[in-house]
Amino acid sequence: MVEIVPSILSADFAHLAEEIGRVERGGASILHLDVMDGHFVPNLTIGPPVVESIRKTTRAHLDVHLMIENPERYVAAFAGAGANSISVHYEACRHLDQVLGLIREQHVQAGVVLNPATPVSVLKDVLEVADYVLLMSVNPGFGGQKLIPYVLNKVRRLDQMRREKRLALPIEIDGGVHLENLAEVVRAGCDWIVTGSAVFHSRDPEATVREMREIAANANAVRC
Ligand code: DX5
Ligand code: ZN
Repeated sequence: MVEIVPSILSADFAHLAEEIGRVERGGASILHLDVMDGHFVPNLTIGPPVVESIRKTTRAHLDVHLMIENPERYVAAFAGAGANSISVHYEACRHLDQVLGLIREQHVQAGVVLNPATPVSVLKDVLEVADYVLLMSVNPGFGGQKLIPYVLNKVRRLDQMRREKRLALPIEIDGGVHLENLAEVVRAGCDWIVTGSAVFHSRDPEATVREMREIAANANAVRC
């Protein structure tokens, strides 16, 4: 099942509960929360208190994307705040296996994220201890950027790797996905499609999520 996963980065933070309500009515059951520290990426966003407040307003799966240095220091805080999945960047972890273990110890799904320039081959051995993989399709830090086309080849390669290993782990993609390129992204092999500006900057976020879910379901039917 392909999921459309709205990223609240492009939502109106002063009206977050209403914004979340809109995308949930459109059918979204996973929300993507981008955490940035101004070091790993040149931008700052939210921390555990905001995640905790969001947790009180929704029953959706909260997918926390940590774009921070030393993510192991904050895993317990985000898990305690109500995250259902937490992903950490390969590029930010000196001891990736250990960090994934820490996340799982909190009974939270553990994800590995790769920047566009990092090849999927680095995941060869760690796939078994991850619950999902997030491939960045833009350089992380900001919403509203263009999808980098070669990342779709990485998706195809990773899809091949998981088939060979008979692993069911979802492939998530993040950045630059909109109504026009969504079908191609799904056909490449993505399961969780993060989308920020295409949803929250649209006239009717609820209708946009619904339309995206339909496009994704049709494209997935061709893929299977
Ligand atoms: C970028 C973030 C994304 C961002 C995607 O660093 O990780 O989640 O919100 O936004 P769009 O869909 O606008 O590219
Ligand atoms: Zn993200």
